[in-house]
Parts: sequence; structure tokens; C-alpha cells
Amino acid sequence: MRIAVAGATGNIGSLTVAALERDGHEVVRISRSLGVDLVTGDGLDDALTGVEAVVAATNGPAARREEALGFFATATGNLLAAEERAGVRHHVLLSIVGIHRVEGNAHYAGKREQERLVAAGPVPWTIVPATQFHDFAEMVASWTEQDGVATIAPLLVQPIAPADVAGVLAEVVTGEPLGRHADLAGPEPQDLVDMARRTHRARGREVKLVPTWAGVFGTSMAGEVLLPGDGARIEKTTFDEWLAAL
Ligand SMILES: NC(=O)c1ccc[n+]([C@@H]2O[C@H](COP(=O)([O-])OP(=O)(O)OC[C@H]3O[C@@H](n4cnc5c(N)ncnc54)[C@H](OP(=O)(O)O)[C@@H]3O)[C@@H](O)[C@H]2O)c1
Repeated sequence: MRIAVAGATGNIGSLTVAALERDGHEVVRISRSLGVDLVTGDGLDDALTGVEAVVAATNGPAARREEALGFFATATGNLLAAEERAGVRHHVLLSIVGIHRVEGNAHYAGKREQERLVAAGPVPWTIVPATQFHDFAEMVASWTEQDGVATIAPLLVQPIAPADVAGVLAEVVTGEPLGRHADLAGPEPQDLVDMARRTHRARGREVKLVPTWAGVFGTSMAGEVLLPGDGARIEKTTFDEWLAAL
């Protein structure tokens, strides 16, 4: 199949491109650095020529709610309209488990708007909600790290390996549109502070972690709101296996 990956240079997008190419598909890469901008629409119609299905794994600014909403609304609206013009038959959106249970997170507000547009849009769709990735704790700590100290919320998560997410997206996009897919998660619950500590140790880095709910993630994300729901699809790679391969 001829399949486009939006966000093709990103963490999940690049692994999805690799998985699709391993399976013999022809992949069109979409990202600003490759000359296609979903916000302005530049290069989009040309990129989607002959494309049968699309994986959307983009990311945008998440600091402020208006910014996140603006990015996901505009980028998703432009992408879906271009897909309709090109006759694309399947739009697969990578989303996040728990976004409908958490208020006050700018990125989640943007993702909810993205899901709404896809579900109401002109192209048959599958939404794949995934839990946090194995590299999420390290990324969150990096947002505040200064002079060897970082703050991080003690979130309860059930993280998944990026390559496992990409493998599922590559499988789903070649099939029929399913509507809302089961939650996608890794095999074991983890504490985000512990994940960050172990990731830093594996990389040989000394970072003092200060657990707090006063940072980017507040207490609306405490408890079990980020864990996968009933009937979740559980992928195999454990956090320990992922760490061992760093
Ligand atoms: N991190 C997690 O734990 C987690 C968990 C579940 C779901 N997710 C979701 O997974 C998705 C992908 O995350 P990721 O970490 O793989 O993202 P990422 O590494 O930040 O990559 C983002 C991609 O989007 C592209 N992009 C950004 N703005 C664009 C624009 N205007 N036009 C075209 N392409 C654009 C970037 O390329 P250019 O900069 O070249 O444009 C890049 O290829 C996100 O939507 C996130 O919500 C994340």
C-alpha cells in the first residue's frame, strides 16, 4: 500500500515508517523539515497523491491550552480535508489513554479536539489511544532539569515501548477502519518518578528528582486515570527490557 505518516521524523512516526517499510509498503513522509506543513497546508496535496491510508503521529506546542488547541485543530482539519480531496480511505490517529478523564492539561485538551475532529470528519477512521511511552519519564524530567535537579509528578502509568506502538499503528493502518481501538498499553504499571530515576541511572546521569503535584501534572492525573481500561491490548516489551537496550 501507499501510506503517509504525518510526524514521520518524530519518536513514534519514524518507527512507524520503519515498520511499514519492513512490511514492504511505500511510505510518504510528512513533517515540516521534509517540506510539508500541516498548519499552513504547504506541500500537503502533493504529498497525499495516490495515498490510501494515513497515520497521524504529529505533536505540537503544549505549554498553553489555546496553543495546543490551535495546533491540533488546524493541523488535523487541514490533514483531513486534504485526505478527502485525495480519496484516502483510512485515517489512523495516535491518541492518549485517559484524556477524557483529566481536566486542566493543555496537551490533553488539544488531543480531545483532535479526536473529535477525526470522529466527525470525512475519512473513515481508527483512533488508537496509547499509554505513556517508556521514554516519557525521562522527557518529563528534562522539562524542568536545572543544575542537576528536576521536578516530576509521581504518576501511576502502564508504559509501552515506542517500537510496540509503531508496530500496532503499522498493523492497524493496513486494515479496515475500526472506530475507537482498544486502549494500547505495556505489560506492567510503573511509578513515573521511579522510571525517571532508573532511566537516568541507565544513562549514567546524576539527576536529583523532586516529586511534586505542583508542576505540569496536577492531582487530576493522580490515581488510576492514566491506566488502560477493560479489554486493553497489552504489548510485550517491559520497561526493564527497554532500559536494558538503551
Ligand atoms: N509521549 C507519550 O508518552 C505519548 C503517549 C501516548 C500518545 N502520545 C502521542 O503521540 C503523538 C506523537 O508523539 P511523539 O513523541 O512521537 O512526537 P514527536 O517526537 O514530538 O514528533 C512530532 C512530529 O510531528 C511533526 N510536526 C510537528 N508540527 C508539524 C507540522 N506543523 N506539520 C507537519 N508535521 C509536524 C514533527 O516534525 P517537524 O518538526 O519536522 O515538523 C515530528 O515529526 C503525540 O500526538 C502524542 O500526544 C504520546
